[in-house]
Amino acid sequence: MIVGLDVGTTKVCCLAAEEVEGELRALALGMAPSTGLRRGVVVNIESTVNSILEAVRQAEEACGEEITNVVVGIAGTHIKSQQSHGVIALKGGEVTPEDVDKVIEAARAINLPNDRLILHAIPQEYIVDDQGGIEQPVGMSGVRLEARVHIITAGASAVHNLVKCVEKAGLEVDAVVLQPLASAEAVLTEEEKQLGVALIDFGGGTTDVAIFLEGTLRHTGAVGVGGQILTSDLTVGLRTTMSAAEKLKIHYGCCLAPMVPREEYIEVPGLGNRPARKLSRQVLAEILEPRVEELLEIINTELERSGLKPRLGSGAVITGGSALLPGLLEMADQIFELPTRIGFPRKLPGLPEEMYHPRLSTVIGLVLFGRNLGMERPKGIPKNPLKKIFELFGRGL
Ligand SMILES: Nc1ncnc2c1ncn2[C@@H]1O[C@H](COP(=O)(O)OP(=O)(O)OP(=O)(O)O)[C@@H](O)[C@H]1O
Ligand SMILES: [Mg+2]
Repeated sequence: MIVGLDVGTTKVCCLAAEEVEGELRALALGMAPSTGLRRGVVVNIESTVNSILEAVRQAEEACGEEITNVVVGIAGTHIKSQQSHGVIALKGGEVTPEDVDKVIEAARAINLPNDRLILHAIPQEYIVDDQGGIEQPVGMSGVRLEARVHIITAGASAVHNLVKCVEKAGLEVDAVVLQPLASAEAVLTEEEKQLGVALIDFGGGTTDVAIFLEGTLRHTGAVGVGGQILTSDLTVGLRTTMSAAEKLKIHYGCCLAPMVPREEYIEVPGLGNRPARKLSRQVLAEILEPRVEELLEIINTELERSGLKPRLGSGAVITGGSALLPGLLEMADQIFELPTRIGFPRKLPGLPEEMYHPRLSTVIGLVLFGRNLGMERPKGIPKNPLKKIFELFGRGL
């Protein structure tokens, strides 16, 4: 059984799957509201543990099996990435799989402050002697092997606290995976990753960006706001409760005011015992529009900062729960000046149709990622991203 655990800011989601004759099948899905995270990071261990317990219990009940090990995702603005470079001498005159491990290990040897640790080391290209641009160097002849590696680091305490919550819920962590990397597994095609694409996970508490080019991850970034801020804007702007604002956003929200006919009216519940009011649906859009615009501008700055924007031949893909907000695609198209689509997760046999919501991209991606962990090192994905983390834990970091 392969189990993905997405500990998000608004929900904890647990997806159990199994591999039968090379094909993944979903077995069960559990989902519980999450209240112990802020901006993608655990701030309350006890409530996070409770959400995890509930999501896992639901999944266990649905599939009738005990869940012991999980692949868990991490996100937030504490995630940083940098380029690194490793070089080793080839003793046997030909590159072996061990040499590849060694050169990546060499690239991982970067100076890291005590409060950070390496989450992933993703090979970008190998260079044998002076021949660059090699994707798979095993078997090549030469005397020197170099690797250009993209290193993703995370705040140590954010990782510690997440792992602690999962372990307190009685589970073992098989791997900690960068959330947008997992979502990318679920929503992007190989072709998009080759041609260049920006994946944007517009969740509840964070919006994470991952840029792929030539088949591998090239850049990551995060903005510490997501759909929750839209809900709180509505709470203030419409003078209503959080839960009413959330429902209104999901049923009637739109972030482009001109797309909404002025004569459409919605009922807004009042605060306390004030009566409900009738408001034009356009008022809702007028509140959402500037905030979404601001957020997309920040993401656009991030895309530009990466230096890769002109090379995004496949444009942008927006996933995460907030991706479904009407008007978002049109606005993103304009602001990014890139063709943009909504990223629905890939279908897994066994999962009912109504589950194919962009909210589930991360958890489906975690399962896909988990399957890869047991295979030969797939391109761009390290075999055991957690190995180093456990080593660091072992050293009492
Ligand atoms: N149809 C919809 N229209 C607009 N927003 C929506 C819709 N459905 C869900 N959302 C929003 O999506 C957000 C939740 O998305 P998601 O489940 O991806 O977040 P999360 O994984 O819990 O959080 P994060 O990844 O930021 O830690 C909520 O803010 C919710 O209001
Ligand atoms: Mg999420």
